Amino acid sequence: MTQPRALTGIQPSGIPHVGNLKGAIEPALTLQETHEPFYFIASYHALTTVRDADVLRRFQFEAAATWLAFGLDPDRTSLFLQQDVPEVAELSWILSCITNQGLLERAHAYKAARDTGREINVGTFCYPVLMAADILIYDSNHVPVGKDQKQHVEMARDMAQRFNDRYGDVFVLPEPLIREEVATVPGLDGRKMSKSYDNTLPLFLPPKKLRKRIMKIVTQTSDVEAPKDPDTCNVFALYKLFATEEQQQVLAARYRAGGMGFGNAKQELFEVLDAVLEEPRARYEELVADPARVEAVLDRGAARARSVAQDTMGRVRGACGLSNIVCE
Ligand code: ADP
Ligand code: TRP
Repeated sequence: MTQPRALTGIQPSGIPHVGNLKGAIEPALTLQETHEPFYFIASYHALTTVRDADVLRRFQFEAAATWLAFGLDPDRTSLFLQQDVPEVAELSWILSCITNQGLLERAHAYKAARDTGREINVGTFCYPVLMAADILIYDSNHVPVGKDQKQHVEMARDMAQRFNDRYGDVFVLPEPLIREEVATVPGLDGRKMSKSYDNTLPLFLPPKKLRKRIMKIVTQTSDVEAPKDPDTCNVFALYKLFATEEQQQVLAARYRAGGMGFGNAKQELFEVLDAVLEEPRARYEELVADPARVEAVLDRGAARARSVAQDTMGRVRGACGLSNIVCE
């Protein structure tokens, strides 16, 4: 029996962080058992914000090595760079021709960029169309993402439906897969953890630096003696993502009892997180020392992905009249 296909992308627009791990990487990796996964580094998307070629190359490598360090199995999963399947840019154009401007104007990410008051590039406006092309070109059934990407996946589904209504059954209708318990990981300042807010816990900091970042988490100011509420505390929200049930109960009881400062809670968070990250950090360092290994994985993934994409594009071109035959 063929397995459903899972697809997700991560932009190489900064250093991968705990939000990416919990919102996207871990959920995606669990699907290796049940799905045929296609995971890629969304470099075309990152071009909307990253303007330095060397920086982009470094971020791409870091993103790929991160997937591998956390257990991506290249025999099961196709890991590749978005630009190694340039067909996706062609599909993006075709989809843009059946997509109304109004739909894109409703995208949260676009509205947030517009509300900064800065000039916006057309790539930022068309971002959801390219993302739809990414999803639809691989006949993806399931798209594991954080909650912030739900609307984009729904837009991809809308575009697929619109295309199918007009041209026949060409695209699979995709569904987002969102883990409610980690839907939005908070950052150091309590907003969504995001590279764009500089409020992240990067995954591969040396332990000392990681601890320093953790100590910067914003907490309510209250005296050490006062009882504290774990459920409204950022430190505890992050702790929950990594600690066992029992560890959570112990720390929650210490919050409620009073007599514990937030510094102690941060130290507890550092210890669980550091223990979880220790092995992947070592694997990551091995990969940094052997970039050819990462490149070989990406080449293999790209070959598989491209072959699927070319099949889909054959169907798409035929359906909308772009095939080379004069009259069919
Ligand atoms: P960033 O916001 O840091 O730029 P990306 O947009 O590259 O992160 O996100 C890559 C993936 O990680 C997406 O699936 C996104 O939903 C997920 N993700 C990013 N930040 C978080 C977060 N704070 N909580 C949960 N998931 C997240
Ligand atoms: N927009 C996604 C993000 O910022 C990255 C992405 C690009 C993506 N194309 C995708 C995610 C396709 C899932 C499917 O996180």
